[in-house]
This record gives sequence, structure tokens and C-alpha cells, in this order.
Amino acid sequence: RPRVLSGIQPTADSFHLGNYLGALRQWVAMQDTHDTFYCVVDLHAITVEHDPALLRERSLRSAAQLLAAGLDPDRCTLFIQSHVPEHSQLAWVLGCLTGFGEASRMTQFKDKSSKGGTESATVGLFTYPVLMAADILLYQTDQVPVGEDQRQHLELTRDLAGRFNGRYGETFRQPSAYIVKDVAKIQDLANPVAKMSKSSSSPAGIVELLDDPKVSAKRVRSAVTDSDRSITFDVAAKPGVSNLLTILSALRSVPVPSLVESYEGKGYGDLKGDVADAVVELVTPFRDRTFALLEDRESLDGILAHGAERARAVASETMSLVNERVGFVPAK
Ligand code: TYM
Repeated sequence: RPRVLSGIQPTADSFHLGNYLGALRQWVAMQDTHDTFYCVVDLHAITVEHDPALLRERSLRSAAQLLAAGLDPDRCTLFIQSHVPEHSQLAWVLGCLTGFGEASRMTQFKDKSSKGGTESATVGLFTYPVLMAADILLYQTDQVPVGEDQRQHLELTRDLAGRFNGRYGETFRQPSAYIVKDVAKIQDLANPVAKMSKSSSSPAGIVELLDDPKVSAKRVRSAVTDSDRSITFDVAAKPGVSNLLTILSALRSVPVPSLVESYEGKGYGDLKGDVADAVVELVTPFRDRTFALLEDRESLDGILAHGAERARAVASETMSLVNERVGFVPAK
């Protein structure tokens, strides 16, 4: 079976609909066809200012949400990144192969640091993509299911794998991004020309999976559309309506053209109502499961301990090979 690895940051109280459609749904499906490793990337979460108690809480909540979304600890390896020290170790080695200019070209760093200026951004934020490359390469990953915003990081990962192999001998498998085009970029409901984002969306623009379903339904019904009245799919001219069609198509597994046909003669209110219903159907059992999983801390801890153990078995093997290849004296 081809190997899969992906990760998600525990930087918010809840995952959002973009995370779910763009990534988590694929993670769940790939458990049946791939050898899957999924992690809550807490090391990445400290690249911006954070509160320690909140980070701990959010990491556990993240793990519970992943299970609630359908990850099955018997069919995948679910772990917390900081439980596997090899991630930091490999990141150091890869950092020594990354050009300063190359890292400077990462658009996510430019976006995230543009608010406070590069003076207040940390070196950790700057080298964030190198740590992400380490996450992926440690597991000899074939495919990485992510949303569109991670594409550039995947390209860097491939470059680093190729460079390491070229310099020190064949060591890493070349991973590719697994991006499902239709759902790769779910847009902000209130500002449909921007992506739905934990860090930059306003509350009105984001559907948080752990929110009260009534709140989510209301946000969908208040989504920004346009002053035209036709329900057609045209991302450039009708970003709001197109985003709603994309979401409904994914949640109901109905192709967009069939949906468009079914709305002939109907209005935006009908479309929004249907999207709201589909969202409520998704989040209602999801949040119940998440909160139930969080009630049973012992089971959750057990699942994560087991996951870390399995992850470490693979990661330590790759790391030993890397240490040897770069010329470190083995510890006796
Ligand atoms: P993160 O935590 O920002 O997001 C988790 C996943 O959700 C996807 N995503 C979206 N997809 C569609 N539409 C959206 N609006 C949307 N917003 C987010 C992201 O693309 C991602 O797949 N750097 C990563 C975490 C990471 C990682 C890794 C991923 C660390 N190490 C190794 C893969 C492999 C991130 O910040 O994702």
C-alpha cells in the first residue's frame, strides 16, 4: 500500500469546513487504500505566539476531532508530532540543506509575517516549511493529502528530498501532493474571494465544526452572494454562489452541473437553506462524537500513546539512516 502522511495545526478551538472538505475527508477515505499516518502538528503551532494551557487543550481537541471525523486508530496511525522527537531532528538536518533565499520565497511566510513585519516574525515561522518537509520525509511518504494552500510547501519538500538524495545517496522517497481540485480551496462565506481560514477569516466567514449547529446554519444563510439572481457556477463572476455550490456538491456527493440544473427557477434562499441543512447534518453528530471522546481522556491518551509508538518505529529507522548518511558518529 502506498504511504500517506498529513498533519493539521491545533491553533484554533475547532476545525472548520475548509479543513474538513479540503483535507480530513480525504484522510478518512485513504485509510482503506493507503498506509496512513496523521499527526496533530503542535510543533508548528508554536511558530506564532501561543498560550501553553490552551495549546495542550487544543491538541487534545484536535485529536478528538480527527477521530470524530472518522479516523480509526486500528486503520491509521494517529499521533501528536511532539511525541516523536525525530521530527525536530530531521528538520535541523533539512534546514542545513535549505537556501535562505529558497525559504524566503515561501508565500505563506510572507503572508503570515506581513501583519507584524518580518522583524517580529520568529525564525520558527520562517523555517516552518522545513519542519513540514521533515514530517513528510520521515515516513517515506508517497502521497500527502492537503488543500491548495500547501502546494508550495510540498514542492519545497520534493526539492529537499531530491537534494538530500543527490548529495548523500538515495535516502528519501519522493512524495507528491494529493489535492482534490474541487474542494482544494473552500472560500470565506463573508468574503468569498479569500479562503476560509482559522487565522484570517472573520467569525461570519467561517463554519466551525464544533460550533452550535444553529450558529453555523445562520452563517451559511447570511453568506455573501451577489446582486444577480441566477444560480450558476462561475468562480470569477460569482464567487459566493460558486462556493456554496462547491460545498453542497461535496457534502451531498452531487456534481455541480446537476445541482445547477436542479436550482433552475429557484433563488439564493433555496440554495442557502439546502447548504445550511447539509452543514447541520454534518456537524451535529461530529460535535457529539468529539465531546464524548474528550470525556474519556484515558482512552484518548491510550490511542495517542499507541500512535506515537507506531510512528516512532518508522521515524527512528529513517532518522538512523539520515544520521549515517550525513556523517554523524553513531552513539554507542
Ligand atoms: P492547516 O492546519 O492550516 O490546515 C489543515 C488542512 O486543511 C487544509 N485547508 C483547506 N482546504 C480547503 N479549503 C480551505 N479553506 C482550507 N483551509 C485549510 C490545509 O490545506 C491542510 O491540508 N502546514 C499545514 C500542516 C502540516 C502538514 C504537515 C500538512 C504540518 N506538517 C505535513 C501535511 C503534511 C497546515 O498549516 O495546515
